Amino acid sequence: MSAPDPGTGAAERSAPCPPPAVRAPPLPAQNTLPPQCLGLEVRGLRVVYGDFVALADTSFRVEPGASFGIVGESGSGKSTVLRAICGLAPLSAGRVQLVTDETSTEALPSPGSKPFRRLVQMVFQDPYGSLHPRQTVDRILSEPLAIHGVKDEQARVERALDEVGLGGGFRFRYPHQLSGGQRQRVALARALILEPQVLLLDEPTSALDASVQAEVLNLLEDLRARLGLTFIMVSHDLAVVTHLCDDILVMQRGQTVERVSAADLAAHRVQEDYTRRLMQASGGFVRVGS
Ligand SMILES: Nc1ncnc2c1ncn2[C@@H]1O[C@H](COP(=O)(O)OP(=O)(O)O)[C@@H](O)[C@H]1O
Ligand SMILES: [Mg+2]
Repeated sequence: MSAPDPGTGAAERSAPCPPPAVRAPPLPAQNTLPPQCLGLEVRGLRVVYGDFVALADTSFRVEPGASFGIVGESGSGKSTVLRAICGLAPLSAGRVQLVTDETSTEALPSPGSKPFRRLVQMVFQDPYGSLHPRQTVDRILSEPLAIHGVKDEQARVERALDEVGLGGGFRFRYPHQLSGGQRQRVALARALILEPQVLLLDEPTSALDASVQAEVLNLLEDLRARLGLTFIMVSHDLAVVTHLCDDILVMQRGQTVERVSAADLAAHRVQEDYTRRLMQASGGFVRVGS
């Protein structure tokens, strides 16, 4: 396993966090969230199920406003990393913390705390399974606001639907009345409604047709730039990850294989045979990179 290395292409591709004023229209501030742009660091994460080590000693740092990808074949532990970050997988070792590039004396929310759960939101892989079939879009989007005691529900629901390109006309629809792409947009709106800083995206487009996949990827790119979000995105598809991410962690059987920049991947500058095999398996990537 090689040591994590930010690579060479990351700096020029990372979008700086835009000022909060970019987010419009302004709604009243709710509770006390840290004003600065946040990233995330994990150190020595280990997740064990019985005798099986699903994740072994995984460490990386994602700078505020950066877009970080995790790739690997099915079963390599990618989703486990995201679940461990948001407290859905049991950690037997390691730690997760928010990071900022500003010198701040204020302690940042710790994992498991309510502010952390608000700032770090996950978009699950399956837009069919992750939305309750008997709840309207309005109810699905209002629920997180109620849990976190956030007011102005109606305005926030409508704004979240606007942000994902659906609009208020979708408020009272049920999931079965939506296409796959629209459901994934609702799942994204649910993650955005609490104004998070870090989005954990688990194969956000893998259940979608190719043309819809491209639309959702473009939307994600646009949202990250507009809202100054930090992304950690998992995919088995290198083409998808290199489209959206500056820096990429390659995983196999719960272990880190290497960390490469998107620019190095595109130029085929990789260290490990496993990464080369993933590149070959991803037909779209080979066309982009060669
Ligand atoms: N709750 C669980 N109990 C037992 N094994 C699990 C559990 N969750 C995941 N695993 C196992 O951990 C490994 C990694 O899973 P996962 O992180 O979902 O892989 P990926 O997202 O890369 O496809 C797999 O072998 C999976 O079967
Ligand atoms: Mg997975």
